[in-house]
Amino acid sequence: MSKDKLVIFDTTLRDGEQSPGASMTLEEKVRIGKALERLRVDVIEAGFAIASPGDFESVKAVAAAVRESRICSLARARAEDIDRAADALKPANAARIHTFIATSPIHMKYKLRLEPDAVIENAVRAVKYARNRVEDVEFSCEDAGRSEIDFLCRIIEAAIDAGASTINIPDTVGYAIPGQFGDTIGQLLARIPNAHRAVFSVHCHNDLGLAVANSLSAVLQGARQVECTINGLGERAGNASLEEVVMAVRTRADLFPVETTIWTPEIVPTSRLVSSVTGFPVQPNKAIVGANAFAHESGIHQDGVLKHRETYEIMRAEDVGWNANKMVLGKHSGRAAFRARLDELGIPVDSDNTLNQLFVRFKELADKKHEIFDEDIHALISDAQPQAEEVFKLVSLEVTSKTGTMPEARLLLSVRGVDKPVTATGSGPVDASFRAIEAVANSGTSLELYSVNAITSGTDSQGEVTVRLSQAGRIINGHGADTDIVVASVKAYLNALNLLQAGGDREHPQGTPI
Ligand code: KIV
Ligand code: ZN
Repeated sequence: MSKDKLVIFDTTLRDGEQSPGASMTLEEKVRIGKALERLRVDVIEAGFAIASPGDFESVKAVAAAVRESRICSLARARAEDIDRAADALKPANAARIHTFIATSPIHMKYKLRLEPDAVIENAVRAVKYARNRVEDVEFSCEDAGRSEIDFLCRIIEAAIDAGASTINIPDTVGYAIPGQFGDTIGQLLARIPNAHRAVFSVHCHNDLGLAVANSLSAVLQGARQVECTINGLGERAGNASLEEVVMAVRTRADLFPVETTIWTPEIVPTSRLVSSVTGFPVQPNKAIVGANAFAHESGIHQDGVLKHRETYEIMRAEDVGWNANKMVLGKHSGRAAFRARLDELGIPVDSDNTLNQLFVRFKELADKKHEIFDEDIHALISDAQPQAEEVFKLVSLEVTSKTGTMPEARLLLSVRGVDKPVTATGSGPVDASFRAIEAVANSGTSLELYSVNAITSGTDSQGEVTVRLSQAGRIINGHGADTDIVVASVKAYLNALNLLQAGGDREHPQGTPI
């Protein structure tokens, strides 16, 4: 029996980037866009083009780089947003504008300050306007999870008549419960007279840990697009995780009348790339992509798996890309092999000069570490990108750490090109180094998070450090990677300070009314 297609709409680059501190550079977004294309994602929401000039350029760059997936930009229900989205999408092979307006009583009254009829008028005007710019228009009822069903029926019917071919039902605040949410989707499909002219989509947030369950329940009731993110990244507690939705539908093919065209062996490599770029580690017990997802600890389980794998495994690790962690290069690999691997990973190298600089860094790493994995290459590339104008740079570092004495860090920093030597003590070498930096920077920030993650296995692994600083309500994540975790930590701290200096405030799509 042939199955319906379930459209996978990935919003890692848009809603995922709304996770506090998860902002990505243009180059990182293109790299993730290429990885999503290899994963065969149907639609990539590349950003919110009007948010800032940087967001506009990122949507444009992803639209130019990705050929196989449809590229989408978010736009509030107003002409300026839609024009900006359409302009950014010009290079795309296949483009979609995703326009939205809030439909719940609480949002209409307090955020939009509009009567329901005016909200419908705005939605219709926006969809028609977007249809003049692109063929493919998606309309979302923000906070649909708390909207009245009669009102949803009215606005959705009007949006479909105005030309929307995808209707998205977001559970914006993660309030829904699976049975009830699925029922809402079923009712909308049954009650809206022109529902057959659109694909119904869901976009669930994970505030109650139910985003995937709600999405799957909606699919059982007729939704044919799921909006999701890699590793479940997203605003607050995140969005439905792509890997969990895709693998649930595939593993329980006996229950779901749909199939996706996702190339599942790319799931783990893409998860690792997103984790490395954002600095959000994947918890070990995370389904599908956590380090323990396929590890059997108890003797009984191990025995069962060895005798017959299906006794305890419902999926095969290799089907989701575990083991795809190829040892790619080593100390004796040449420039051509390095270049070939960059090409395979979709990492653009615009000149011989850039290649030479990256190759020098690669050789330095290969001297410290025998086996260079794809994850190492991604970390090396992220490290080599100028993330912001570098006000603070590390010139050299020396730490002493000895049992029974206070660790001491001696740093030579360059601040706007001027060398500043500084020494500080602390409870450990990292603490001493951060105190030394602050003695020079005096940034007035507070440290919200410090995390170290080994990129690969083995004690020669690079440590990937995330430092989250806050200053007057702004939150910035800095990242650094090195085989020496004190160096990685200092790089991450300086990266966060440089990003704070760079400013670059953006508009939040859901923060401001239409
Ligand atoms: O959660 C939400 O409602 C959204 C919309 C903009 C689709 O992200
Ligand atoms: Zn959302």
